[in-house]
Amino acid sequence: MKIGVLGTGVVGNTIGSALIRAGHEVRMGSRSATNEKAAQWVAQNGSAASQGSFADAAAFGEVIFNCTKGEGSLEALGQAGENNLAGKVVVDISNPLDFSKGMPPSLFVGNTDSLAEQIQKAFPQSRVVKTLNIVTTAVMVDAGLSAPGEKGTMFISGNEEEARQFVTEQFLKPWGWDDVIDLGDLTGARAMEMILPLWVRVYMQTQNPMFSWKIVRGK
Ligand SMILES: NC(=O)c1ccc[n+]([C@@H]2O[C@H](COP(=O)([O-])OP(=O)(O)OC[C@H]3O[C@@H](n4cnc5c(N)ncnc54)[C@H](OP(=O)(O)O)[C@@H]3O)[C@@H](O)[C@H]2O)c1
Repeated sequence: MKIGVLGTGVVGNTIGSALIRAGHEVRMGSRSATNEKAAQWVAQNGSAASQGSFADAAAFGEVIFNCTKGEGSLEALGQAGENNLAGKVVVDISNPLDFSKGMPPSLFVGNTDSLAEQIQKAFPQSRVVKTLNIVTTAVMVDAGLSAPGEKGTMFISGNEEEARQFVTEQFLKPWGWDDVIDLGDLTGARAMEMILPLWVRVYMQTQNPMFSWKIVRGK
């Protein structure tokens, strides 16, 4: 599959490399078509990897991963271009973190709205699916990495069941997420994004980002 990864940070890098390892062609997008971090990533990932602007990556991809900073996501997707996103699944991994008052960050949207919903509203023809935002990058693409022999639970939400199933089958399962709880429509993203304040607190206390969340069900 041809995939556009928007974002040159550790998330874009990790997701992009995992997609290449899975046999996909990936174009990494940035505000600059010649972004240095993207160039390094291309150099490390061979001929299936390429780079460009956000618009180049979005035009290239049949599926798009939004791995941009939460506060810049709407701007980044705007630069990607509404037409380049129309009809495509946009896997949204961003978090609406506000670090303006230092640590721990607050959320700049929550409770009655979410960044994923704002993206869906701004780009109504795209098919936004929220997932993977609740774990550190290395664990996103290898669910078993956080604790040997154990795997956490992943959540997914989005307005189209078909899109949620597509993302689960194509990406979550191959990356080891055997226990996926489908939260239904994109209002589920509110809860997924509101996990982040707890994620940050756990990390601040343990200094260990290698953890995931597990739902233990009663009979
Ligand atoms: N790091 C983690 O472990 C982790 C885990 C779960 C979720 N997340 C979420 O994943 C996303 C990416 O995180 P990250 O740590 O890889 O990188 P990041 O530093 O949060 O984001 C980097 C990307 O955001 C773009 N960006 C920043 N400000 C922008 C603006 N004003 N307008 C347009 N684009 C802008 C940058 O563009 P340029 O390429 O042009 O610089 C770059 O591509 C974030 O939303 C984060 O909350 C991160």
